[in-house]
Amino acid sequence: MKNILITGGAGFIGSHVVRLLVNKYPGSTIVNLDNLTYAGNLLNLTDIENRPNYRFVKNDLVDDEGVFALFKEFSFDTVIHLAAESHVDRSIANPMDFVHSNVLGTVNLLNAAKFTWKDNYEGKRFYHISTDEVYGSLGDKGLFTETTPYDPRSPYSASKASSDHFVRAWYHTYKLPVVLSNCSNNYGPNQFPEKLLPLFINNILHKKPLPVYGKGENVRDWLFVKDHAEAIDLIVGKGRIGETYNIGGHNEWKNIDLIRLLCNIMDKKLGRTPGTSAELITYVKDRAGHDLRYAIDAGKVQRELGWKPSVTFEEGLEITVDWYLTNDQWLQQVTSGDYMQYYRKQYEER
Ligand code: NAD
Ligand code: DAU
Repeated sequence: MKNILITGGAGFIGSHVVRLLVNKYPGSTIVNLDNLTYAGNLLNLTDIENRPNYRFVKNDLVDDEGVFALFKEFSFDTVIHLAAESHVDRSIANPMDFVHSNVLGTVNLLNAAKFTWKDNYEGKRFYHISTDEVYGSLGDKGLFTETTPYDPRSPYSASKASSDHFVRAWYHTYKLPVVLSNCSNNYGPNQFPEKLLPLFINNILHKKPLPVYGKGENVRDWLFVKDHAEAIDLIVGKGRIGETYNIGGHNEWKNIDLIRLLCNIMDKKLGRTPGTSAELITYVKDRAGHDLRYAIDAGKVQRELGWKPSVTFEEGLEITVDWYLTNDQWLQQVTSGDYMQYYRKQYEER
């Protein structure tokens, strides 16, 4: 890998991938293309922003002239495509934003790679990052494997499923050298506080209600973001062309159990009486079409590439909570302005 394009590198997972690759591959040029939506934040990358092997370019994935010109300028041999609208609740409120970035943006990027590489695919690789949500919702038993039929049920997962299909179509039709992965719920530092864990950490800090959707019985499979970034590095280097790899933590939690665990950890860290934060738990109207359970069988990436999570959930949660408590300026910056408007609409006016 000489010239690597990472899309969405200012977001949560993308920033961890950028940092890992900038540090690990000093001889490569890493270009981060991101249009800095509400979820994109250059503060996530201050520690590596001046590295000689790193460049940031602000642009929309859907801008075909801009994206084609970028490919021409840098002669990318590797694309790691993470940019997307990523929050299910926002997709329910504004589905067109998801069609724009996730579907049109992905097709534009595929076109730019195909056009620039001109059927000379030697040493080239287009890696598309996707989600376990494309497989739909599980009952009490079973795991998603790479052959589970697609059954997306939210506008977000439908847009990601659509982008996955386009990526595979470019492989089958044009022989573009693609590889895909579908991952479970990530958590860790730098996650925007619209997602469950950082939102609840922020609310506990400010003694605000903790809005549990429905009965809190939905199950998610949690993976520490740095372990996802490590998997991405392995797959981009060693994953087989045309293949898909499922990534997950083998770490299923019912929402309400996870929230109670978080409350206990926060009470300890904040020196509050045990049970104080749990009193903030408030059951609210369920998310429309709320998928009951996601759980990943990550056997293939483990067998073929030797990947497995490196931190336990207890360790990962501890690191995460400590990061938010230490980075209160980051939290303040991202929870002012537009966030307050989003929060009111999503939680106070629904
Ligand atoms: P995020 O919302 O934190 O970041 C997305 C980034 O993409 C932001 O920096 C944003 O500015 C950028 N972006 C969005 N639309 C763009 C556009 N049109 N042009 C250029 N940049 C644009 O997302 P995340 O949680 O880091 O997720 C990254 C990827 O991983 C997504 O593709 C998501 O579907 C996938 N994924 C996420 C999770 C998770 O738990 N967060 C799990 C599995 C897969
Ligand atoms: O599974 C992978 C997916 O995980 C990614 O593709 C998505 O980008 C990512 O956002 C995440 O989707 P979820 O919908 O599972 O994550 P979220 O953090 O929004 O919600 C986790 C669970 O918590 C879910 O069952 C809904 C519930 N929840 C969430 C919020 C924000 C609440 O009960 N209350 C809340 O306020």
